[in-house]
Amino acid sequence: MSDRTLVRGGLVITAAEEMQADVLIEDGKIAALAAPGSSCARGWTAEHTIDATGKYVIPGGVDAHTHFELPFGGTASSDTFETGTRAAAWGGTTTVVDFAVQPRGGALRQGLDAWHAKAEGKCAVDYGFHMIVSDVHEGTLKEMDLLVEEGVTSFKLFMAYPGVFYSDDGQILRAMQRASGNGGLIMMHAENGIAIDVLIEQALAAGRTDPLHHGEVRKALLEAEATHRAIQLARVAGSPLYVVHVSAREAVAELVSARDQGLPVFGETCPQYLFLSTDNLAEPDFEGAKYVCSTPLRPREHQAALWRALRTDDLQVVSTDHCPFCFSGQKELGRGDFSKIPNGLPGVENRMDLLHQAVVDGHISRRRWIEIACAAPARMFGLAPHKGTIAPGADADIVVYDPHAQQTLSAETHHMNVDYSAYEGKRITGQVETVLSRGETVIDRRRFTGRAGHGRHVPRSTCQYLA
Ligand code: URP
Ligand code: ZN
Ligand code: ZN
Repeated sequence: MSDRTLVRGGLVITAAEEMQADVLIEDGKIAALAAPGSSCARGWTAEHTIDATGKYVIPGGVDAHTHFELPFGGTASSDTFETGTRAAAWGGTTTVVDFAVQPRGGALRQGLDAWHAKAEGKCAVDYGFHMIVSDVHEGTLKEMDLLVEEGVTSFKLFMAYPGVFYSDDGQILRAMQRASGNGGLIMMHAENGIAIDVLIEQALAAGRTDPLHHGEVRKALLEAEATHRAIQLARVAGSPLYVVHVSAREAVAELVSARDQGLPVFGETCPQYLFLSTDNLAEPDFEGAKYVCSTPLRPREHQAALWRALRTDDLQVVSTDHCPFCFSGQKELGRGDFSKIPNGLPGVENRMDLLHQAVVDGHISRRRWIEIACAAPARMFGLAPHKGTIAPGADADIVVYDPHAQQTLSAETHHMNVDYSAYEGKRITGQVETVLSRGETVIDRRRFTGRAGHGRHVPRSTCQYLA
């Protein structure tokens, strides 16, 4: 006996089109779209009907950059897979791609197994994994091939954090060469970590210990230099490249120049770089620590270049880099030494709303909202055609979004396991109303009806962005 749901009367928005349509869901998949009201005439019957009149019907968000339970900076990010994916559902995100970490001196397999164990049976929405490669050697390179075959098709390397995740240029080139052979996508944390460490040491020696100095030592030019170097290495290796958390306009210029030459170079930015700035890092009483992440927040002048690149498709994706640490007891580890503040910001619940606000503010169109938050990350990371769109055959990951609702973002009302909001008091027009994950209602008119364990691991194919 099949299970059918009809989402009726809404404006369906995908990256490709907008249309008034009814959506029929059968056994967790989208079965058909039809002109409004024609479902009865077509003889569609459904056990459940969702009235979306006056609302948007959009694909569930795909957040391709989260860190749940990440051991980092002497502590661990505060959202578990259970709390983090529940918060994602509240925010209209129905797929996350988190980062498993290779232990230094260990195998990729060890890291991946550990992350599977953390996530299995806990998630409210579907999830995949990228692999952080922190120790490139012959064994690692061979393992990359195996991981691609089992659906872990992207590998993050770090030009920053010497002694932790850092790889040197030779290691990066080897990993890129391997990826060019096996179809994997190299994701790069592009900051010159060796130079930054010198500047950190000098700042601390001069008594510049406040959070604001985190932004000052992690210079835009050092992001741009690393971005340029990563592009050239990828070019030599003949591999595509995806640069994560781009924040500096000078780094955007490097991506634009590479793309103008026809190179397969892609980039993501994050809401924090679009909506926050170094003004936040300068907040008094150590409050600036709440905004410490890497790459760092930049002066407001950088935002225009990011918005422009999102419009021109020089940046393809907005992910959150959700990596929350509580202010109390975690961010506070860096009082008196900004370099000890755990790096990362919460945001998995806020991304779809903030980007809708960007539509309201005129930065992007509605379809571009869906492209950068749903469709492009799905194609970039091999989740299409199941995720990121509303089309027959796709998973019924659907959000009924009220574009007129008014809300105020706050730690008092959010569902992320963190004691502050990076967007405290920000007014947003629009709100997630109902969320379906593979046809199952996980948020029902702003009530959580999902469960830990509904979310499944999704093996991914290789990057589909060029296709
Ligand atoms: O500050 C950040 N971005 N923390 C998470 C780790 C990373 O580099 O993505
Ligand atoms: Zn990073
Ligand atoms: Zn990250």
